[in-house]
Amino acid sequence: MYKNIFDTHAHYDDERFCEDSQELLSSFPENGISGVISCGVNTESSKANIELAEKYPFIYAAIGYHGLNTEDVPDNYIEVLGELIKHEKVVAIGEIGLDYHYERETRDIQLEIFRKQIEFANEHGLPVIVHDREAHEDTMNILRELKPKGVMHCFSGSVEMAKEIIKLGMYIGLGGAVTFKNAVKPVEVAAFVPEDRLLLETDAPYMTPVPFRGQRCTSLHIPYTAQKIAEVRNTDIQHIFDVTDRNARELFLK
Ligand code: NI
Repeated sequence: MYKNIFDTHAHYDDERFCEDSQELLSSFPENGISGVISCGVNTESSKANIELAEKYPFIYAAIGYHGLNTEDVPDNYIEVLGELIKHEKVVAIGEIGLDYHYERETRDIQLEIFRKQIEFANEHGLPVIVHDREAHEDTMNILRELKPKGVMHCFSGSVEMAKEIIKLGMYIGLGGAVTFKNAVKPVEVAAFVPEDRLLLETDAPYMTPVPFRGQRCTSLHIPYTAQKIAEVRNTDIQHIFDVTDRNARELFLK
């Protein structure tokens, strides 16, 4: 039985949880889950995650506008964020960032809302939770310039890129991708990241680790991810939970 499992990235407002969310989320403490950050992607989901955070003491909310939801971004989005951060359980601006895999054509808008939200987070002393899919170069340029505190979620870059992110003071979030059969870079990164910069995450309901790929992912699957990370770092699973729980609290709850 493990303890101190801190899932720094999930989406429990997702419709795939609406049927059993009460039962599922209530079971987390007895399964060793010490904290979860449930991330918004637009106004509606940011508000839904705040509601979840009000209901469960171990859930915290991140609020923001994802690069894939540019059509959902209201003109006054910075004002909306300004209202929502007043809630005591809002701990980060996220999930924000660039996705050129699904949407290259909205690139200019994605860049603008990403940049403005980082500036907002910096102004308010909040960490950011960054999504970067096939947009490494633009992501790095903005991070180098604005130097937010925060995490690169579901990190998919090289060890070289991880080094630079760490030098910028940010954390690396690793999830189910490290368990995938074709994972090379995530495994190299899992072996490399300094202990004090590593965070665990699921991206639930997505990114389910092996051997459950294809099923809905929940925070209860994290031990499979941690097992792989512990294996490549030559340590034990509980140690991975202990250090990542400490790191998550340092970044998000201080
Ligand atoms: Ni996500």
